[in-house]
Amino acid sequence: MFLRTLVRAGVTLLLAASISITHAVSVTVVEDNLDSPKVEHVRIQSDAHNATGIRYVTNSGICETTPNVAQISGYIDIGTNMSMWFWFFESRNTPETAPFTLWLNGGPGCSSMIGLFQENGPCFVNADANSTTLNPYSWNNVSNMIYIDQPIETGFSHGDDEANSTQSAAPFVWTAFQVLFENKLFSKYASREFIFASESYGGHYVPGFVTYFEQQNALIASGKIHGVPISVSALMINNGWFDPLIHYVSYLNYTTNAPGYGQLRPDDVLKNISNGLYGPDGCVAQEKACYAAGNSAESNKICRHADKYCIENVYWLAVDDYDPYDIRQNSSAPFPPEYYVDYLNKKDVMAKIGAEVPYDECPTKPYHKFIKTGDEARTWLPQLSALADSKMKILIWAGDADLNCNWLGSQATILAMDWYGNKTLHDTPLTNMTIDGTTVAAVQNVDNFSFALVYKAGHEVPAFQPKASLEIFSQIIRKEQLHSV
Ligand SMILES: *[C@@H]1O[C@H](CO)[C@@H](O)[C@H](O)[C@H]1NC(C)=O
Ligand SMILES: *[C@@H]1O[C@H](CO)[C@@H](O)[C@H](O)[C@H]1NC(C)=O
Ligand SMILES: *[C@@H]1O[C@H](CO)[C@@H](O)[C@H](O)[C@H]1NC(C)=O
Ligand SMILES: *[C@@H]1O[C@H](CO)[C@@H](O)[C@H](O)[C@H]1NC(C)=O
Ligand SMILES: *[C@@H]1O[C@H](CO)[C@@H](O)[C@H](O)[C@H]1NC(C)=O
Ligand SMILES: *[C@@H]1O[C@H](CO)[C@@H](O)[C@H](O)[C@H]1NC(C)=O
Ligand SMILES: *[C@@H]1O[C@H](CO)[C@@H](O)[C@H](O)[C@H]1NC(C)=O
Ligand SMILES: *[C@@H]1O[C@H](CO)[C@@H](O)[C@H](O)[C@H]1NC(C)=O
Ligand SMILES: *[C@@H]1O[C@H](CO)[C@@H](O)[C@H](O)[C@H]1NC(C)=O
Ligand SMILES: *[C@@H]1O[C@H](CO)[C@@H](O)[C@H](O)[C@H]1NC(C)=O
Ligand SMILES: *[C@@H]1O[C@H](CO)[C@@H](O)[C@H](O)[C@H]1NC(C)=O
Repeated sequence: MFLRTLVRAGVTLLLAASISITHAVSVTVVEDNLDSPKVEHVRIQSDAHNATGIRYVTNSGICETTPNVAQISGYIDIGTNMSMWFWFFESRNTPETAPFTLWLNGGPGCSSMIGLFQENGPCFVNADANSTTLNPYSWNNVSNMIYIDQPIETGFSHGDDEANSTQSAAPFVWTAFQVLFENKLFSKYASREFIFASESYGGHYVPGFVTYFEQQNALIASGKIHGVPISVSALMINNGWFDPLIHYVSYLNYTTNAPGYGQLRPDDVLKNISNGLYGPDGCVAQEKACYAAGNSAESNKICRHADKYCIENVYWLAVDDYDPYDIRQNSSAPFPPEYYVDYLNKKDVMAKIGAEVPYDECPTKPYHKFIKTGDEARTWLPQLSALADSKMKILIWAGDADLNCNWLGSQATILAMDWYGNKTLHDTPLTNMTIDGTTVAAVQNVDNFSFALVYKAGHEVPAFQPKASLEIFSQIIRKEQLHSV
């Protein structure tokens, strides 16, 4: 399998812990019970949407153990037999005013528990797979954080999964926030700054979902539909997969000379990669045909075939025995460790957090649904450009040691954006960003748009550079341009 996010084999499946719902209550009588220290399973039926609601546990005591920092985990039911897993952490500091940040991992079809437990969440799981250590650089130090497993079937989510493309996945995520914000526990966050943060396949999800949210906002504003507007105030995507035509070419550039790491593959292989790209009916020609096919009936097949060809004739030649997510490691890549997977599959942990099915980090079913429609081969560059043109606060960033969604591809993507700041961005050099005198990144700022290349970091940037990542996140949510501190 070939995923735009970290995936490893060897997940042990346990039988689902049986979760009993201790009481069913109506939304009108539930008080904000965030201060309650005990584990209780609560079901709240939605008044506005049929067959929807949330089922959750407050303060499970798992992961976030900082005193007085609330957490909620459970399911958002977005329709009959459609249960989306979420895990919410209050900000450790000024939760009443801190922004509300959504973190999504990529895939397609990978769980956001990857980000929670390996990248920017409140804790890491220890080698015993039975205990945790607090992460001092957790992003909930400065923001309220919610992690969601989508599409359904990913991670702890379960039920009927109808999403088979970025576009078709968007309404389900939108509905999840409608249900959430209708609820008393979460309604206060509907008016907070909404930060959308993602990585990897998030290069598809974020432009796709935010574009859809804005279309829904317009329908709500004009009275055509009822709902809660979801006004994204900033978005950030690291090591994103935006425009496959650019990214497949970037594999040749990166393996020819990965800045800071040199030539990765021998000359004869580089020649083969080049042939795979530019040969007759090669990857580039097929990708162009995919773009030209648009959303026509034949496009699924054309795009699917393009992707398969490019993976086999470009991607695998580039990767060889490297860990594609961190070229400083080989394919047995020990970092970041996967202890959290066994931890999440422990029956007592599942019971405490309210999980109803065994945890599956990157299941194959949702992935193959997306592959079938050729979603991976399609571009979201036009939507990203439009968002930049709208002056939204945007950060595109990347770790320098990731091959899979390498930074040369991110850089070529932003330089190809069609937006008002294009010329200025082309004329703006990368300058070093330091923290206490140590260089952590090279950055570019044009008004509300920023780019950052993070040094000594693989695909999962916050796992490798937690301090720099928290600083960068903090500057973005404060609406600052990236700068040294
Ligand atoms: C809501 O669900 C009930 C029971 O499942 C069903 O009878 C009803 O038709 C549904 N209403 C709508 C508007 O879908
Ligand atoms: C796991 O940790 C719990 C305490 O959190 C302890 O009671 C239990 O014995 C541990 N299990 C193992 C296998 O170490
Ligand atoms: C995170 O917040 C705590 C207080 O809640 C503070 O003591 C700590 O210094 C913060 N960590 C960082 C890295 O800012
Ligand atoms: C719910 O979804 C699962 C797929 O996860 C499916 O196997 C099951 O039949 C569905 N149940 C109903 C009642 O539709
Ligand atoms: C690859 O390198 C060529 C030559 O320097 C450059 O024109 C192109 O923009 C680069 N493309 C990517 C995706 O890195
Ligand atoms: C490169 O392509 C040639 C011709 O198809 C093939 O014989 C050779 O094995 C390939 N080399 C590598 C390293 O893939
Ligand atoms: C991969 O790297 C590890 C060290 O991180 C080393 O022990 C192992 O031998 C390497 N494997 C191969 C096939 O080179
Ligand atoms: C993708 O999902 C849509 C909507 O459910 C469906 O109409 C379409 O046939 C699906 N496409 C494929 C290739 O399965
Ligand atoms: C962006 O600017 C560059 C350099 O000025 C130019 O070559 C390119 O055509 C411009 N791209 C767009 C989409 O306007
Ligand atoms: C930026 O930092 C890198 C890495 O520390 C260093 O090699 C480079 O010389 C610095 N560039 C400038 C302009 O200071
Ligand atoms: C940046 O975004 C803010 C809204 O968050 C907006 O008020 C401001 O005008 C934007 N700045 C520029 C230079 O576009």
